[in-house]
Amino acid sequence: MSASASGASPALPVHVGIIMDGNGRWARARGKNRLAGHKQGAEVARNVVRWAKEFGIKQISLYAFSTENWERPKLEVRGLMNLLAILLPKTLPEMMQNEVRFRILGDLSPLPGSARKAVELACSNTANNTGIDLILCLNYGGQQEIIAAVKQTLQWVQTQSDPQQALTALNPEQFRNLMWRHNIAPLDLLIRTGGEMRISNFHLWDAAYAELYFSSVLWPDFSRKDLQVALDEYASRERRYGLTSEQLET
Ligand code: IPE
Ligand code: IPE
Ligand code: MG
Repeated sequence: MSASASGASPALPVHVGIIMDGNGRWARARGKNRLAGHKQGAEVARNVVRWAKEFGIKQISLYAFSTENWERPKLEVRGLMNLLAILLPKTLPEMMQNEVRFRILGDLSPLPGSARKAVELACSNTANNTGIDLILCLNYGGQQEIIAAVKQTLQWVQTQSDPQQALTALNPEQFRNLMWRHNIAPLDLLIRTGGEMRISNFHLWDAAYAELYFSSVLWPDFSRKDLQVALDEYASRERRYGLTSEQLET
């Protein structure tokens, strides 16, 4: 079934996560600086949320800045943080119009004040919107999220009547409930643009059973059609979760 078909479909992912990669290469190919690539990438990020909503997707998470990206040249890091501080307030009216609920996955504490304030404002102003969740992954790292959940778990077991037994019986579902992502739907489809075939510390826990889709398109060139092709590919996959095809049929 085509992703362009209207109406709800079980073949439609609930949660799509995107590693928006290729901004730097896009800029270099045009003789521009890397920040020009990030600016164009931010435009596409704005658009992709609208396209996703039109396709009926309920949650989209966008990898905007990884825990490892702090090691990039200072000028680039500063430029990215400024972009956030400037563009987010400008995008607010559009988010309200499209009923976008803006959320964050990641640790905001090391962000410069201006970027953090812009993020917090976008979160609070859009908190009651129900059209689509935009989850911006900012200073996000999958390994860091798992470590944070381990710490949460150790605190949680202490609140149980038999801590040792609670730890012994801990299952993946309980553990996920202690993760930053506890109130986000499991990742169904992970898209990476830019041609690299790696996860780069994105959504590690849910990557366990997400469908992976790699596109060679550089992020600033990513189009509505490219998203549709990814969604159509997703619809053609059989998610077996370890079972056999025959089991799924019955
Ligand atoms: C992704 O594009 C954006 C961020 C990591 C912030 P890149 O900046 O990684 O672009 P390439 O991979 O160098 O082309
Ligand atoms: C992943 O892209 C991070 C974001 C898109 C924010 P990178 O460009 O940082 O990943 P690597 O370095 O190629 O693994
Ligand atoms: Mg990259």
